Amino acid sequence: MTPDASTAPSYDLWAPQVRANPFPLYQYLREKDPVARVMDPHRQMPFWLLTRYRDVVETAKDPRLTNDVEKLPEELRKKFRGGGAQTLNRHLLVMDPPDHTRVRSLATQAFTPRRVEALRPRITALCAELLESMKARGSADFVEAFAFPLPITVISELLGVPLEDRAQFRTWIEVFFTPPAQGGMERIRESLDRLLAYLEGFIELRRRQPQEDLVTALLAVEEQGDRLSTRELLSMIYLLLVAGHETTVHVLSNGTLELLRHPDQLQLLREDPSLIPSAVEELLRFCGPVELTMGRFALEDFELCGQPIKAHDVVRMNILAANHDAEQFPDPERLDVKRSPNKHLAFGQGIHFCLGSNLAKLEATLAFEVIIERLPHLRLAVPPEQLQWRSSAQVRGLMRLPLSFEAP
Ligand code: HEM
Repeated sequence: MTPDASTAPSYDLWAPQVRANPFPLYQYLREKDPVARVMDPHRQMPFWLLTRYRDVVETAKDPRLTNDVEKLPEELRKKFRGGGAQTLNRHLLVMDPPDHTRVRSLATQAFTPRRVEALRPRITALCAELLESMKARGSADFVEAFAFPLPITVISELLGVPLEDRAQFRTWIEVFFTPPAQGGMERIRESLDRLLAYLEGFIELRRRQPQEDLVTALLAVEEQGDRLSTRELLSMIYLLLVAGHETTVHVLSNGTLELLRHPDQLQLLREDPSLIPSAVEELLRFCGPVELTMGRFALEDFELCGQPIKAHDVVRMNILAANHDAEQFPDPERLDVKRSPNKHLAFGQGIHFCLGSNLAKLEATLAFEVIIERLPHLRLAVPPEQLQWRSSAQVRGLMRLPLSFEAP
């Protein structure tokens, strides 16, 4: 049966107890209701939720689903477009081939492994700097003192945002990640408009004064025959900011929490830091930040993993649930920093596979290296049951992670 707003939501992914521990619900869904009907309380729209590993892998490649809202009838489009700066809304995650193929290939030409690798010394220095100032305080909120500033600084450097604009730039970005109660849609819209105006000016500046940065590189590919429109370029920068920031914040803080909850695994890393890249993969699997993918829309009526669905129905894949599927991962609820093979889905699947996965892994590896090397007395500064999780079911993360660094 196709879900509609009148059929009651069966599962509340947003309930505080589910945010704190979604795994029992996900186990139930994988076993009993693998294509579940869920109500999105923010949009008051139902969607189909996939939780099994193999269903997610298959569905991510299904051409009967589209990411492109423009292909929906007008009355549905309005619901999904949201308000604010439409100019920033034409990005990879809402495109299908052939546009997606063209823009992704241009982005890949600019966002090369060499450009990411070139950031290594700067990220290493930043990690050390943030860590020392946090450590000097004896205790700190890790989210605010380390996990938040690291990715925003790295992305600003990658894009080439001038040093003097960084503080202002950060305040606009921060608003997107502020819980609604503290900000509201109005503030988000205002920040989007300011960010858009800033990016327009910044692009013009880089056209006149090219530098060794990603925006200059994106402009260079744009100028080879007008293949990337200005709207696509602005949207690309916006996507890099949004997709690359919050996700990285929460892999650092969720990962640190899980290492503290599994002292045997933390000890293994202290004894052999060469295990850190493998630990990063396992933390991405175990507590990776992206829980729900973007919505995909059915282009026609068809049977999705055994469930008949209707044209225009929304489908979302639950990456975290799939990453805990015992069919794919033996003993999935065990954190095992040596796990191999570990074909997790934390960066998605198919054509929308994360463009920034190498950068994210580099940041996480360098961050965990300094944390493990320089914080021998690292521990939680509050009882675990006092930790508060954000209300979003799309990106799972802590509001704060109070840590202490001094010997007990
Ligand atoms: C797409 C995860 C960091 C840029 C995605 C998707 C996931 C993901 C799951 C696919 C979403 C979907 O299919 O609906 C992550 C995680 C990160 C991370 C877990 C950190 C641990 C980054 C960074 C950047 C980035 C650092 C860039 C600076 C992108 C872009 C896309 C994307 C541009 C869209 C790709 C496309 O549609 O072709 N990411 N991401 N991500 N990510 Fe990441």
